[in-house]
Amino acid sequence: MELSNLSSTIGDSPTLKLNAKTAALKKEGLPVIHLGGGEPEIPAPLSAVDAIIKKAQSRKIKYSPTTGGAELKEAVARYTKEHYGIEVDNKNIIISSGAKQAIYNFLLSTINKGDEVVFPVPYWVSYPDMIKLVGGVPVAVKPKEGIEITFEELANAVTEKTKAIMLNSPSNPAGVLFSADFIRKTVELCRSRNIWLMTDDIYHQLVFDGVKAPSPFEYTDNADNIVAINGVSKLYGLTGLRIGWAVSTNKEVIAAMGRMQAQTTSCNSALSEAGALGALQGSQEVVDELRKILENNRNTLLSELSKIEGVKVLAPKGTFYCFADFSRYNKDSLALSAFLLDKVMVTTVPGVSFGLDGYLRISYCAAEENIIEGLRRIRWALDKAAPAEIKIGDKIVKKDW
Ligand SMILES: Cc1ncc(COP(=O)(O)O)c(C=O)c1O
Repeated sequence: MELSNLSSTIGDSPTLKLNAKTAALKKEGLPVIHLGGGEPEIPAPLSAVDAIIKKAQSRKIKYSPTTGGAELKEAVARYTKEHYGIEVDNKNIIISSGAKQAIYNFLLSTINKGDEVVFPVPYWVSYPDMIKLVGGVPVAVKPKEGIEITFEELANAVTEKTKAIMLNSPSNPAGVLFSADFIRKTVELCRSRNIWLMTDDIYHQLVFDGVKAPSPFEYTDNADNIVAINGVSKLYGLTGLRIGWAVSTNKEVIAAMGRMQAQTTSCNSALSEAGALGALQGSQEVVDELRKILENNRNTLLSELSKIEGVKVLAPKGTFYCFADFSRYNKDSLALSAFLLDKVMVTTVPGVSFGLDGYLRISYCAAEENIIEGLRRIRWALDKAAPAEIKIGDKIVKKDW
């Protein structure tokens, strides 16, 4: 049987593939250290768990409203007021099955065949394929130097065909936080060129050193071309609920996104919506605690990385990822990542999946002792002057390279 042309243009998600491989090795009982993860390890907030149990016990687990329940939207509106400083009502909000579906709804609702969508490199692995799925053309903007593009580099990539800019700040995979000046100029650029600006704010509260992520809404009185994406996945470690949302002062784009959602998933899981509402209504100290854990883990990782000669790294300002330049050891990040998993059982994600080869994405959402142990193994594997053997779990591993 023949598959569609479209299906052959979309590859397997590299991060999901690595997660599956790591899980399989762990199942074999091997002492793998997973530094490739994309979800905080904290347990679900009790307020979310209680709300899910209460909903389940009601025995009313039916279709929920297509674009999300009213109470959850009201909670998102309060969140939006608190974190973005803008007043919105339920018609400005759509609740989706994860931030990913919200982004996809946005693309389906705004992009025509051949439209260009501009975004910075290194990018979240899903962006190029999601844009291709709706017939758009991904335009990934590579920084001339390092891992952070300048505003001029972004602006130079805009053409007559550009329909949208997508920004993720702080970013997966690099923890890059674009400056207030960068955001303000991007808002002005999008307004003057009549371009959509989608901000993927899924990590916007996971910013360190007492800094707050600048919001595009601060820089305009007319935000009708801006769509902000957010959700509970990273903030509360509730990746399994699959609840995200989009907010815009432009009700038309939200309504269009609702029509797309109606014909794809119909609505979100009622149990998941209850859990997300519980998390938003519960104590927000969980977020502060998570941020503290991650900031400490980031510092530990940076200190461990500094012990590996020649690895260059820009301190991540947020998220739980670090994008380190290992090109001195191998310019082929796929090969290097496979080597580290094979020889010392440490999972990292090759930079090439995010648009920049020679780098590895190392997550620090793992427990601190795993970060230290993982980096001990990587250091040993790469350091030519290191002793010939190392103890990993209860095994002695000898260098054969
Ligand atoms: C930048 C970015 N956006 C969106 C998502 C997806 O979030 P969700 O799990 O809510 O779909 C992720 C998940 O890794 C991400 O890193």
